[in-house]
Amino acid sequence: MRFQDKIVFITGGAKGIGKAMAEAFLAEGASVAVNSRSTEAINKFEEEFKGKNVLAFTADITNYEDMENVAGKIWNAWGKVDVLINNAGIVNPLTPSEKTKKEDFDRAIDVNLKGTFYVSQVFGKRMVEQKSGRIINMITQAAIYGEKGFLPYVMSKAGLMVMTRNLASEWSRHGVTVVAIAPGFIAGGMNEGLIRKQAFVDFLSKKTPIGRMAKVEEITGLVLFLASPEAQYINGETIVIDGGMTGYTAEPLLDFIMAGKGK
Ligand SMILES: NC(=O)c1ccc[n+]([C@@H]2O[C@H](COP(=O)([O-])OP(=O)(O)OC[C@H]3O[C@@H](n4cnc5c(N)ncnc54)[C@H](O)[C@@H]3O)[C@@H](O)[C@H]2O)c1
Repeated sequence: MRFQDKIVFITGGAKGIGKAMAEAFLAEGASVAVNSRSTEAINKFEEEFKGKNVLAFTADITNYEDMENVAGKIWNAWGKVDVLINNAGIVNPLTPSEKTKKEDFDRAIDVNLKGTFYVSQVFGKRMVEQKSGRIINMITQAAIYGEKGFLPYVMSKAGLMVMTRNLASEWSRHGVTVVAIAPGFIAGGMNEGLIRKQAFVDFLSKKTPIGRMAKVEEITGLVLFLASPEAQYINGETIVIDGGMTGYTAEPLLDFIMAGKGK
């Protein structure tokens, strides 16, 4: 039980990868709180985890007061938060950048960038006061090199990468460290719909040297490691977990030349 007596808060943790993280932390002895915009999702989560050490709140991360309220209730109930996981996020509708709608751009920035900062500040200031805490931000591999059609998403997530460094440099002296993870394609969460179609699984798998999408437990495994004392010295960094996709081109120049295509 690696997280006995530890308190973990996961934004957007009622479904997808966030819910898988909640299960993984509970299995390791932690008490886990989550929030979701949807009361229905929260009721479902409470029903599924009845009898376990969980708290669940309907709250939107873009609403500062909502998040103050949530933090106040967790500290009242459990007296501290050891780990904050900024997991909640949205992806914009896939569109070429010249056609991106203003409202889709604004929404991605509001949720992924502004909302995540609000939560970081609301929880971070309390962690600074308690003189301990670990913040883990969910970014994306695409925030490093970009991804056609996802500009609002990757811009908002790229902002979180520098937020990770900045907050680490500001808060570490107060005992609060900050890291981020940048996954490639995960076989779960927001890709649930896509992975029902084999053509998408094949396409996304071909984009990674390792030849497949990430398993959800590979992502939760890294998050648990980063939350553990063994990873304490990793700070301010964004850890890429993408099967080798970063910097990989589907057909490297070497293969092109070796296949005699350059003649
Ligand atoms: N699935 C992937 O392949 C992948 C890859 C890289 C990064 N990520 C990141 O991982 C995180 C989790 O993604 P997922 O795949 O589980 O997606 P998901 O859509 O299944 O889950 C996202 C969660 O965030 C919540 N959320 C969104 N906006 C919110 C708001 N304003 N307030 C509160 N909650 C809100 C949603 O309700 C949902 O519970 C996201 O930040 C995503 O960008 C996912």
